[in-house]
Amino acid sequence: MSDGFILVTKSKRSNKKSRKFKNINIVQQSSDDFNLDKAIKQLENIKFDLQTSDFCAKALIQLEEVINQQSVKEIICLGIGKISEDIIARHQLELIAIIKEKFQIESIKFYDPVFDQNDKLLLDSFKFEVLLENKEGKYRVEHPTIFYLPHCPKQITNNLLYSNWNFEELKNLILICNSFKSIKEATPERFLRPNAHFLLEISSFTKELEISNTFKFSDIFNDFSIHSFPSKTLPDQSSNFWTDQPKPNYSLEDLELVKA
Ligand SMILES: C[S@@+](CC[C@H](N)C(=O)[O-])C[C@H]1O[C@@H](n2cnc3c(N)ncnc32)[C@H](O)[C@@H]1O
Repeated sequence: MSDGFILVTKSKRSNKKSRKFKNINIVQQSSDDFNLDKAIKQLENIKFDLQTSDFCAKALIQLEEVINQQSVKEIICLGIGKISEDIIARHQLELIAIIKEKFQIESIKFYDPVFDQNDKLLLDSFKFEVLLENKEGKYRVEHPTIFYLPHCPKQITNNLLYSNWNFEELKNLILICNSFKSIKEATPERFLRPNAHFLLEISSFTKELEISNTFKFSDIFNDFSIHSFPSKTLPDQSSNFWTDQPKPNYSLEDLELVKA
């Protein structure tokens, strides 16, 4: 890898579905080596790779199916990682930048507690907004919004569902994040329930489109799905489903998210 990156380790994330593709070398760079121009150049190359990939073309078609029914004005991206140092985060950044461009979405905002000055500088160079407050995923939205949560802690997804837990608001969420189906398959309910109660409750009412992981590197977009909550599939507005739910209360041992 050029740009002063050095190989440090290999990804441990599983990717059962596409063994024929290579894992990307997970590379890191010290924050002292950060060079804005080089980073922008590398992002341009990544953008080209993505724009010319079948993976991206298909993902955009799938997203269009969901977006076309609503007018999306905002993207909020949580947990992308250190884009100033991490090649996986840079690929994930370019995918959402392509989505923003393609669907002419006005605003995009980022938050990750690991961001430092370099990450902010890089996002600023694209005029992307950096949020300052750690809301642990508790964003309440009043208009259709894409939440991009690439390999984000499941408690963040759960907090987001909890914060918009009513018939009127849930349909505003479009979540690009780890597949609900895969999460349910991979984790027994007794472990999942304390950390992802709302995810479990809504999963059978969710429209989930799996993004086929055919990109040349297999561990960047693995397990991604587009989740939406069309009104016609949701429980009735007057149902207890919307009221009889316990507030999230995670045990510290299982906590993957960084608390505020
Ligand atoms: C498993 S890493 C995923 C990083 C990268 N997107 C990837 O796929 O390799 C989870 C990310 O969630 C971030 N995170 C943890 N707590 C968070 C919070 N409260 N709000 C936003 N992001 C958070 C972490 O800092 C980390 O970057």
